[in-house]
Parts: sequence; structure tokens; C-alpha cells
Amino acid sequence: MPGIEQEQAHFAEKIALITGAGAGIGQALALAYARNGAVVVIADRNEVGLADTSTQLKRIGHESVSITVDLSIPGDISSMFTRIEELVGGIDILVNNAGFGIWKSPYELELDEWDSVIHTNLRGTFLCSREAAAQMKKRGGGAIVNLSSTRALMSEPNSEAYAASKAGILGLTHAMAVSLGHDHIRVNAICPGWIETGDYNALRSEDHAQHPAGRVGRPEDIVNACFYLTDPNNDFVTGTHLTVDGGMTRRMIYEE
Ligand SMILES: NC(=O)c1ccc[n+]([C@@H]2O[C@H](COP(=O)([O-])OP(=O)(O)OC[C@H]3O[C@@H](n4cnc5c(N)ncnc54)[C@H](O)[C@@H]3O)[C@@H](O)[C@H]2O)c1
Repeated sequence: MPGIEQEQAHFAEKIALITGAGAGIGQALALAYARNGAVVVIADRNEVGLADTSTQLKRIGHESVSITVDLSIPGDISSMFTRIEELVGGIDILVNNAGFGIWKSPYELELDEWDSVIHTNLRGTFLCSREAAAQMKKRGGGAIVNLSSTRALMSEPNSEAYAASKAGILGLTHAMAVSLGHDHIRVNAICPGWIETGDYNALRSEDHAQHPAGRVGRPEDIVNACFYLTDPNNDFVTGTHLTVDGGMTRRMIYEE
């Protein structure tokens, strides 16, 4: 399997922090980076989810560093990076994956609900990136990937806070790419479409068929994009976003 050997070489001895690693895409990312040679630091506010990811990492022979953190709390973020520096010396790869949405009419969305989404998804991404960049700079560079969404580009009703946070992440991505480029730190984003993190077999044929690619996405689709964006060989790629949505945002939908 020459492809796998090559991937292992790319991430060997790299230290990768994956936020939101207690579930879904973050868990898949943690396992994939560990399988491909990285030392993985996993962070989440959900201790049960974190423990599950730790157990799965142990099963593949990987002893991860696990940190319980609420990314909406700035003090939690700075403590996390202090611990990371003490435990593993700093990070080379950051995937700002943690995030959530509140689906509510804009007439009804409470201010604290708006704030909670923005503070985790957008402010948390900024604060983690800034802390990570300080460590990466000392280590000669690094790569940051921010999980945005196709909802940064288009909408369904009642998604204001989530859409604004994910669109904000795209602006943050190119701003930080420009600010941090001279420190050899690349910053990119991924805009996933529908990535099924539950029971893929329970999806309906029409769920798949509506995608130009003919299927709903899987966490592995985001892993592949993230590998591309954090691969040191792709160091000409920074400040951009990669849409991974099976073509859905390119499909015009008018009722016939
Ligand atoms: N799954 C999709 O279809 C999809 C589509 C577009 C974008 N995304 C984005 O990809 C990322 C991962 O999505 P997912 O489907 O795996 O989500 P998920 O809900 O399965 O997992 C997200 C994880 O983030 C953690 N988290 C949330 N808020 C946190 C906080 N304040 N502090 C620490 N941890 C926190 C949760 O505990 C959870 O473990 C998210 O940013 C999401 O917005 C997902």
C-alpha cells in the first residue's frame, strides 16, 4: 500500500490538536491522524465523547492527550494550550472542528443563544488559532484548518447564528492566513455539506440522489480534505476554503 506509507510520512512526529473530537467528524479526524503517524491531542466539552475517542485511539495503539475544554470560555482555551505545551511541547496542526448550531426563528432567537453559537464557533476558532500560532511559530510553522460549512455560502431558514459564525470563519481564515504567512503558518477552511455522522445505512435513496456526486458525505470525505490542507507538500495552499459537499452548492434548485 504505497499511498498509506506516503501519508504516514506526511504526519509522522507531527502533533495535531483536534477540537470537538468527542463525536462525529472530530472523532474520525483524531483516528485518521493517529493512524497516519501524528501524535493526537483531543479536546471537547463532552467528557463521555472524549473518553470514547480515547478508547478507540487506544484500540489502534495510540496514547492520546485528552483535554476537557469549553471553547466558549476564553480561560479554558488558554489553559488548554498551556497544558499542551507542558505535555507535548506545542502543536504543528490545529483542526478547529468543534461547533454547533441553534435552529430557531430570528424573531425568537435569544441573545444568549446567539452569543453561545458565535462564542464557540467563531471566537473559539480565533482564540485557538492565535494560541496555536504562537506555538507553531516557535516550532518553525504549522497548518490550521477551520471547519466552516456550506451554510456560510447559502441558507435554509432559521440558521442565522450558525450561518453568521461559519461565514465569519471564512473571513477569519483568509485574514489569519495573511497575518501568519511569514511565520510559515497556513490557514485554510473546509465547507462541508451534508456529512452523515450517524447511521449511514438509514439514509434514503433520495438523500443520496439529490447530490450531483450521487451520495451523502461521510466523515472520511472531510478527513481527506483535511489531510490535503495540512500536508506539508501543499504549502502553496493558504487562505482559501475547500467545499466538500458532493456538488450541492453548485446545483440550481427551481421547482418544475
Ligand atoms: N456533519 C455535517 O453535516 C456538517 C456540515 C457542515 C459543517 N459541519 C461542521 O463540522 C464540525 C463537526 O461537525 P459534526 O457533525 O461532527 O458535529 P458533532 O455535533 O457530531 O460534534 C461536534 C463536537 O464539538 C463539541 N463541541 C461543541 N461545542 C463545544 C464547545 N463549546 N467546547 C468544546 N467542544 C464543543 C461537541 O461536544 C461535539 O463532540 C462542526 O463545526 C460543524 O459545524 C458539519
